[in-house]
Amino acid sequence: METTVFILLYVILFLSTLLSYPFLRKKKRGFRIGRSKLPPGSMGWPYIGETLQLYSQDPNIFFLTKQRRYGEIFKTRILGCPCVMLASPEAARFVLVTHAHLFKPTYPRSKEEMIGPCALFFHQGDYHTRLRKLVQSSLSPDSIRKLIPDIERIALSALDSWAASRQVVNTFSEMKKFSFDVGILSIFGHLDGCYKEKLEENYRIVDKGYNSFPTRIPGSAYHKALQARKRLNQILGEIISERKEKRLVEKDLLGHLLNFKDDKGQTLSEDQIADNIIGVLFAAQDTTASVITWILKFLHDHPKLLEAVKTEQKAMQQSNNGGEGHLTWAQTRNMTLTHRVLLESLRMASIISFTFREAVVDVEYKGYLIPKGWKVMPLFRNIHHNPEFFSEPQHFDPSRFEQAAPKPNTFMPFGNGVHACPGNELAKLEALILIHHLVTQFRWEVVGSESGIQYGPFPVPQGGLPARFWKESSCPSQNMCP
Ligand code: HEM
Repeated sequence: METTVFILLYVILFLSTLLSYPFLRKKKRGFRIGRSKLPPGSMGWPYIGETLQLYSQDPNIFFLTKQRRYGEIFKTRILGCPCVMLASPEAARFVLVTHAHLFKPTYPRSKEEMIGPCALFFHQGDYHTRLRKLVQSSLSPDSIRKLIPDIERIALSALDSWAASRQVVNTFSEMKKFSFDVGILSIFGHLDGCYKEKLEENYRIVDKGYNSFPTRIPGSAYHKALQARKRLNQILGEIISERKEKRLVEKDLLGHLLNFKDDKGQTLSEDQIADNIIGVLFAAQDTTASVITWILKFLHDHPKLLEAVKTEQKAMQQSNNGGEGHLTWAQTRNMTLTHRVLLESLRMASIISFTFREAVVDVEYKGYLIPKGWKVMPLFRNIHHNPEFFSEPQHFDPSRFEQAAPKPNTFMPFGNGVHACPGNELAKLEALILIHHLVTQFRWEVVGSESGIQYGPFPVPQGGLPARFWKESSCPSQNMCP
């Protein structure tokens, strides 16, 4: 009986909250703190806000509809959190660059626990600056240019295996393996095969559980991922001990992290090292795999452009002793057309569509209040797809990068400010190397007619772009290969 009364009371309370909500909303319109008011927009239903509207459709349609209705700054509520979304270059710069100290990075707890709470992208201030310097120097042009022969080897081995299989492959999944291998190379240099296998096996479980419902029920994907994350720490511990025993001083990311000492002679703990290694692997993999998959799709859909890219790359291959020699750093910097294709793919796909920050104090922007504790989301994709900055934004046109550089803060595929991507040069390098070998020695055909975008959570072509690959030398006639 008591339970029935309790449930009845609960239902009445819930219904009265719902029914009174439109009135509350009316009252709140025009709410002001000091002289500034909240940005325009709708907060949706109590607690859930507009989560259903966001997740039941292409998120970009949600953002675009809002932008058209309210302008370049608007409020909403997603997953229980009040948010302010910003769709102008100036607003993105305000949050990420000029007033970055007023906004801290914010991620769900479950994600932070999975990657490791000491990873640099969860931090601000001194700790972030110190870690960032280490990551940046291991990914600087001077460091990554030495990786070219190894990246070429990894790219060729991947391409050969897809062609040899004669099967339809999921391009995105295969590109993930490629970018994982390049990530391992930049972190550990040459790593013993046995360690690499163990890292890969456990990392895959973490990757699967990362976006699953965060429940610790044994057997759930999230629980399995947490267990695998613990095993990753053990494996990294073994690698670190071995390096210390052999007194190896390497210039890779692990070397930089191990050699670090602050002003007081303090070194980094093994947890800090492990969280940052997993963090970098994580930041490097799906993002790079996604953009390379998009490049393949765009080149496949634009045969004339593909021919022009082939001409550029074949000339480079010829100047390299018919492909006998390795690509040089200078050559990778001179792939003018291929580089434009890469930039336009980054713009079109906008792999990181937006990012999250949280206001650490009440902030005023252009007369609007962003209250302390609210999430703030600069919408990169809306900026990249705004016709004011990129004419005919839905049209894939690499030549737009030929005429003039984009206006400041309108092209931010790698973010902006203190947290901007330190891996951007490596990501571009690996994409250019893979495309070089792909178009000079292989052919590919996209299988199936599925079009559209799949979010997982990064945007990738539908179905991961199923494709078949051939080695050009095994295509004696036109009708045997596409
Ligand atoms: C096409 C590929 C990539 C894209 C589009 C991309 C994009 C981004 C973006 C937009 C951010 C900033 C996020 C924010 O401000 O909240 C970021 C941060 C980061 N990226 Fe990348 N990234 C890519 C590849 C890589 C690679 C290859 C690495 C490392 C090898 C890497 C490592 C990182 C790290 C460590 C951060 C955090 C930096 C910090 O908080 O200071 N990324 N990336």
